[in-house]
Amino acid sequence: MFTSAGGEERSLLMMIFGGTGDLTHRKLLPALYHLMAERQLPEECSVICIGRREISQEEYRLQARASVAAHSRSGVDETHMERFLSKLQYRRMEFVSDPASYGAFREWLSENEALFRAPAVRIFFLAVAPEHFGLIVSRLRESRLIVKRNPDHRVMIEKPFGSDLASARKLNLTITEALDERQIYRIDHYLGKEMIRNILAIRFGNSLFEPLWNHHYIDNIQITSTETLGVEGRGGYYERSGILKDMLQNHLLQMLALITMEPPADLMPESIRDEKVKALRALRRFAPSGICEGIALGQYGPGVINGRQVPGYREERDVDDDSSVPTFIALRASVDNFRWGGVPIYIRAGKRLDRQRTQIVIEFKRLPGINYYQEFRDQPPNLLVIQVQPAEGMHFQINAKRPGNEFRMDQVELDYSQGSRFQGNVPEAYEQLILEAFRANSSLFTRWDELEQSWMFVESVEKMCDAGMQPFPNYAAGSRGPERAGLLPREDGREWLEIQLPRREEKE
Ligand code: BG6
Repeated sequence: MFTSAGGEERSLLMMIFGGTGDLTHRKLLPALYHLMAERQLPEECSVICIGRREISQEEYRLQARASVAAHSRSGVDETHMERFLSKLQYRRMEFVSDPASYGAFREWLSENEALFRAPAVRIFFLAVAPEHFGLIVSRLRESRLIVKRNPDHRVMIEKPFGSDLASARKLNLTITEALDERQIYRIDHYLGKEMIRNILAIRFGNSLFEPLWNHHYIDNIQITSTETLGVEGRGGYYERSGILKDMLQNHLLQMLALITMEPPADLMPESIRDEKVKALRALRRFAPSGICEGIALGQYGPGVINGRQVPGYREERDVDDDSSVPTFIALRASVDNFRWGGVPIYIRAGKRLDRQRTQIVIEFKRLPGINYYQEFRDQPPNLLVIQVQPAEGMHFQINAKRPGNEFRMDQVELDYSQGSRFQGNVPEAYEQLILEAFRANSSLFTRWDELEQSWMFVESVEKMCDAGMQPFPNYAAGSRGPERAGLLPREDGREWLEIQLPRREEKE
């Protein structure tokens, strides 16, 4: 039985604004297909995709079938597909230019809702251009499609939430006029990734790590998210966001918050989010000195990736010939509190790099006594690698005796590969996000105060480092990024840790 937080049975009405868009076809429809195939959603469930294009139901279902087949994580089963398509509808609606269309939609929806036996949870998923977020939410409220403080009326909002601190505040004001915080599900799809959800389990479920998780034992933390992909036809969007707003403000800072937060009192969404926001508040802002210190920005030029010649960022469609938008960032962050004082947190992310990889590396301090034994000299430090993607898993690097008559040390790895340990398909991030929104579990979504803190940090980066002053392009596609990025940890006597997973190939 599918229930509300109060334990009563619920059906589901899922409305997707942006029903003809890329996100809907690549991620949302496949996610809904899998959730239905695995009976994670109630039998009484309707998915209504809303778009401005004139498309017949038949045509839309054909397109949906093709999208699910192309992007499903495990192929499709015809029986499940038929059931999924029978619950899918397309509705044309001029949701920007025609306010009256909302009233007509409400009547139609109420008639459909009345056919369900159990009261419905209404989820409105905004997969549209961000400039429409505020407008749609206001109209949903005016037409009483959503009612403030009704916990069964929920809105899921894609990123970016605002384009800077001021616009994010303005958008939040509009949205909170219509909904209270518990009805708002701001998406950061990284929070739905299996290994990101695993951070809490790794940190607080292991007596091996929990007591060591502080500046006494950890030397530095490295968060890396590199992509071989470029902007993939999204040049127009990327020109407005760049790496700072596309990755740093959301995914990278969310990973940082989960790694550095204090243990929450319990695993309730608000307890977790309270601790994340405290960590983000302690994140040191960059001083507006204008000298780009502790930060390296980059933009890719042409180059070769996987044997294929690719254009530079400035040659991409909808990108300015002399664009100063960064596609790479590396920085040294500090969380100024008792737990993390003095521990550098190196972050780097970029497009068109040599490898596709999201990884968090915790480097433990070296044992001082190790040097008293001649044989133990120069052993590498212990490392914990949380491999977010590809090939999710964990890898713990320790030192042990090499087999043989000589007493010689070697570095060995304890390796956990999620794919080999748990066979079968692991749900994609959007499946987890939709399911948890239906279950009213907001811990996988960002609360306003987290976002506000993230924007403050990003603005401090922007103020310190003027991208317009950088010698772009400064790295070739297929490389490891700009030279300056390599120097960042080196200035502190450290190196970026380029971890190659031992028993699993990293997919390109
Ligand atoms: C998105 C960004 O939020 O995250 C993209 O807009 C980026 O530019 C993507 O490629 C990375 O997500 P993932 O799940 O592929 O790591």
